[in-house]
Amino acid sequence: MKDDNIFKDLTVLYEMALSIGQSLDLEKNCDNFLKILMARKNLSFASVWIREDKIIPQGEKNNLLLTYGKPRYFVRERIINECEQLRDFFQGRKYLPISYDNPYFRHFVHENNIKGGTYVIFPLADLGYLKLYTMQNQLRFFEEREINQLEKVMKKFAISLEGCLSHQKLVIEIAERKKAEQELSTLNETLAEKIEQEVTRSRQKDIILQRHARQAAMGEIINSIAHQWRQPLNSISLAASNILLDLELEEDPEEIKKSCDFILKLTEDMSNTITDFMDFFRHDKEKSEVLIEDIFQDIAGMLQAQLFSHNIMFTWQVEAGLRMVTYKKELQQILLNLITNSIQAFKDRSLLEKRVEARVHKDGSYIIELRDNAGGIPEEIIEKIFNPYFTTKEKGQGTGLGLSICKSIVEDSLRGEISVCNEGEGAFFRIKLPTDRDFLTA
Ligand SMILES: Nc1ncnc2c1ncn2[C@@H]1O[C@H](COP(=O)(O)OP(=O)(O)OP(=O)(O)O)[C@@H](O)[C@H]1O
Ligand SMILES: [Mg+2]
Repeated sequence: MKDDNIFKDLTVLYEMALSIGQSLDLEKNCDNFLKILMARKNLSFASVWIREDKIIPQGEKNNLLLTYGKPRYFVRERIINECEQLRDFFQGRKYLPISYDNPYFRHFVHENNIKGGTYVIFPLADLGYLKLYTMQNQLRFFEEREINQLEKVMKKFAISLEGCLSHQKLVIEIAERKKAEQELSTLNETLAEKIEQEVTRSRQKDIILQRHARQAAMGEIINSIAHQWRQPLNSISLAASNILLDLELEEDPEEIKKSCDFILKLTEDMSNTITDFMDFFRHDKEKSEVLIEDIFQDIAGMLQAQLFSHNIMFTWQVEAGLRMVTYKKELQQILLNLITNSIQAFKDRSLLEKRVEARVHKDGSYIIELRDNAGGIPEEIIEKIFNPYFTTKEKGQGTGLGLSICKSIVEDSLRGEISVCNEGEGAFFRIKLPTDRDFLTA
């Protein structure tokens, strides 16, 4: 071989080697290399076929996808099956020249408008194949030395293609990750928005609940005051009528004075009732040690009129001198709610004896039990009675907040537990409160 031929060969080789791997873009990388290869080797068509599983994670190993093909008008198919003949052929061979009309490889080499010439196939490591086409009708298209040189170039080309594929995967991964991050951040934003909305809604609910609870408590005050006042009001009205009668009959002024004193005494009692109730509903902020007996005395006093008018006997059983550290008024409010419920449960029940009984004992913690004989709570609703707004009373008769207020005071303020069941002839409520030491450190 002449020197200038060697020189020409080396130049072409150098030029081709240089053109490989200039770009990480698969198509551009193929284009850079194949343009030069086609020009230098006088080829009419070049295409790169890569196994599907190298491109798509779940791709078929035997499917070859057209990754590059120029000129376009030769391209007939974009996906072909890698036949066994082809695979077997390359066991130990560097390239495969095929006449355009070779029936054995027909399915692999049947581009558009090919009416003569020769195909040359090079394997691209285990990625796939490079398919070249020349119009020349000679199978020994490349000389042995050219094939040896090209083999090295093809290896480099295959490695560069692998680089492109990895890059492509990375780009897709990054895009997917970005998309996922974006979705996540949108999700987080909407989540934050939703949480904000929920918090506001729940705050509004709390405000409404508190307002209703206050109204319910007010309702109970008014109800109790009304009961406490009915009797003295009647007496006042009676005393006033007596005064009028005495005046008309010009009775002894001493009698009139007596009636006036009586009225004054009653109005003073009535005023005290209001003070008692207002004071009772002004919650205490300090924990204090109280005589449990006093708690029940106060409540019995407040509910006296109601209990009396419904003919209900309220009794309590407390160890003499038993004391506890608590928020007295809150505990009283709970008992007031529970006893009021019992009083209401007796409504429309004609019983010979209506009883509400309380018992307190200390068993490490304090156990307060309250039972009535008003018939109990239907089993199908017993689970729900502590829910806010749950009531079986007619509209306007109850808010359904009484027990939910009791539960939240017991749990949040007094750090205890409240439970209910039916026992004997009625409902049985049990409140468990912590020991003084636990309560003081809570
Ligand atoms: N001692 C009881 N016996 C029978 N049923 C009861 C008793 N205590 C409560 N209940 C039932 O539990 C329901 C809920 O009681 P809760 O005190 O929470 O609301 P309410 O009494 O209906 O309404 P409010 O307390 O606002 O007047 C009552 O409607 C009633 O059906
Ligand atoms: Mg109630």
